[in-house]
Amino acid sequence: KTVSFDYSKAMAFLGEDELQNFKTTTLNARDTLLSKSGAGSDFLGWIDLPVYYDKEEFERIKTTAKKIQNDSDVLLVVGIGGSYLGARAAIEFLSHSFYNCLDKSQRKTPQIIFCGNSISSKYIADLKDVLKDKDFSINIISKSGTTTEPAISFRVFKELLIEKYGREEANKRIYATTDKARGALKSLANEEGYESFVVPDDIGGRFSVLTAVGLLPIAVAGIDIDELMAGAAAMREEVIGKPFEENPSLLYAAIRNIFLRKGKNVEVTANYEPSLHYVSEWVKQLFGESEGKDGRGIFPAAVDLTTDLHSMGQYIQDGGRMLFETVLDIEESPVEILLKEEETDTDGMNYLAGKSVDFVNKSAMNGTILAHTDGDVPNLKINIPNESPFSLGSLFYFYEFACGVSGYILGVNPFNQPGVESYKSNMFALLGKPGYESQREELLKRLN
Ligand code: PA5
Repeated sequence: KTVSFDYSKAMAFLGEDELQNFKTTTLNARDTLLSKSGAGSDFLGWIDLPVYYDKEEFERIKTTAKKIQNDSDVLLVVGIGGSYLGARAAIEFLSHSFYNCLDKSQRKTPQIIFCGNSISSKYIADLKDVLKDKDFSINIISKSGTTTEPAISFRVFKELLIEKYGREEANKRIYATTDKARGALKSLANEEGYESFVVPDDIGGRFSVLTAVGLLPIAVAGIDIDELMAGAAAMREEVIGKPFEENPSLLYAAIRNIFLRKGKNVEVTANYEPSLHYVSEWVKQLFGESEGKDGRGIFPAAVDLTTDLHSMGQYIQDGGRMLFETVLDIEESPVEILLKEEETDTDGMNYLAGKSVDFVNKSAMNGTILAHTDGDVPNLKINIPNESPFSLGSLFYFYEFACGVSGYILGVNPFNQPGVESYKSNMFALLGKPGYESQREELLKRLN
């Protein structure tokens, strides 16, 4: 089953007539997307990807994943942003909660460790400690090949790999996912003979989870990538084919823009399962980078519940009223844990005896949805049938399509990210990168 969208609890903030009035705007945005006539139309390769992907490369991903599973205790996945979050979201959602801590015999597939997503010396040094006695391989993922964070980590861990295995064997343990023809990483991969995978020209980082960018690490973790693609393909058919009134992505895109026009300019994505934490991070990146530009956009925030009900819950219930909330609900829990009665009911929990932990969680969710609604926070819900690759594939596609449509409704180019260059150019100037001399002088004056 694919994911579904429920906006019934938002009706107090939204009339059916309002939604109907927004239908034409939404369908126009969809048509702009599908006819590839809008801004950023060079980056729409993700629309047909779940069906028309490179089947030969897909098989090579599976073969390579097997090789890594056979010769490595750890796969080090080096990347940032769109070259990182999709794989992490999928692996954390679909694997054992303590995947990396399990014994090798229980886990059966390599530990997956992510790096290159910060510039932390401590993280790098600590990771070196972890890796020194382990057999490992590296998947360096960078479309441009020049992003500072992964490039730094790659230098360090490539050196460790060479120290451990010698250059020839090390090169056989490095897998490069990058542009098919251009860029620094592609050149290095050609020179050193790394096995390479492609980030297609027409797919931007944050829309790339179903390319080799996400698929190789996901497959190494033992996840069924055929099912992931099948889920995305099923959702593609739904969101391209279904009428507005039954179309989950179109309704979601329309309603979030209606809310925005009513002053609800922060969307809080709320999950009730820790395994969804990185899915929320992926959603934040998808919408933050796609919509936040030209002085516009909904600010994408995320909370892990019920954990954050004991921190951010106060603000959501009672603080500034610029919020709406989108709950990610996993309908079917993979396990049932029944609570037992205790002889002395010191903690007063005996009334829950015989109930499952998931029932308690769902009750917390349903109660919170009503409380937040009463607190003037409109609530939307995305129902995820279960923790399967198929469901997740459908969720990824649901969001991607909604994001493209929503960005066009907003009137921005959802497929560029000009804003991320500003920090880079200041950082390069402060680091003394050739070509940034005059900017450097100016920045140093401001800092001093
Ligand atoms: O979505 C995006 O385009 C970005 O988040 C990029 O994925 C991120 O900046 C990493 O870029 P690259 O893959 O070129 O290293």
